[in-house]
Amino acid sequence: MSDPADERQDPQALWTAVDDYIAGLLVAEDPALEQARKASTEAGLPPIAVTPSQGKLMELLARVQHARTILELGTLGGYSTIWLARALPAGGRLVTLEAEPRYAEVARANIARAGFGDIVELRVGPALETLPRLFDEGAGPFDLVFIDADKANNPGYLEWSLKLSRPGTLIVVDNVVRDGAILDPAAYDPERGDPHIRGVRRFYELLAAEPRLSATAIQTVGDKGYDGFVLAIVDATAGDYGLGTG
Ligand code: SAH
Ligand code: DHB
Ligand code: MG
Repeated sequence: MSDPADERQDPQALWTAVDDYIAGLLVAEDPALEQARKASTEAGLPPIAVTPSQGKLMELLARVQHARTILELGTLGGYSTIWLARALPAGGRLVTLEAEPRYAEVARANIARAGFGDIVELRVGPALETLPRLFDEGAGPFDLVFIDADKANNPGYLEWSLKLSRPGTLIVVDNVVRDGAILDPAAYDPERGDPHIRGVRRFYELLAAEPRLSATAIQTVGDKGYDGFVLAIVDATAGDYGLGTG
């Protein structure tokens, strides 16, 4: 390892070193997780999966939530999927949605190797197409939803997550800070801006206006830079599941 004094000059190097320190002590990746990460890299998937410490956070949140059913948007190579699946009790189920068939193939192999082939259902296609199908099939309500797909569609993903939720459902949304770009007027400009940043901004506005959700956002630094996540709890639903109508 390099001299810590160098790292203090370079925030990213320091965040990575501290992340490594934390993960080294507290986050034991089992061989399946390690292999999933390795296989994803070798298959040329983009290096955008959650870090080990974030993956462990997802597992802990699912455990705190006593989640038996989990919905994930954005599978990539299945790395976060495996962390989440580890939290499920016997009989638990996880549905994960991925648009890119090539990524889904890698994920399927990783998930099977981790022993979750029968617990995880991977659906391939744009989530805005697979979500309505899930809903029509009567899937859900899910105990935990992890939104981590294309950020441009976060507003729609929030709406569908609510339809697939019950009072008490935990919704976690990744990448809601993006180096602070959410405050950059050029990035959220309606015409010339970045569709991902615009999607995140619109998502915040919907969240703020949504009486059925109680939410906060937490900024994070680590191996993946400066970003953050939203935690939201469903206080009440629109009655899609006939709940809360007394
Ligand atoms: N949750 C993963 C990382 C997901 S990266 C992990 O932490 O391990 C974001 C993923 O969303 C990519 O795999 C990308 O292909 C997928 N994606 C992009 N647009 C999508 C869409 N419209 N529907 C579903 N998935 C999409
Ligand atoms: C990126 C990071 C993510 O966590 C993600 O879900 C999608 C993209 C990125 O750094 O580009
Ligand atoms: Mg992400």
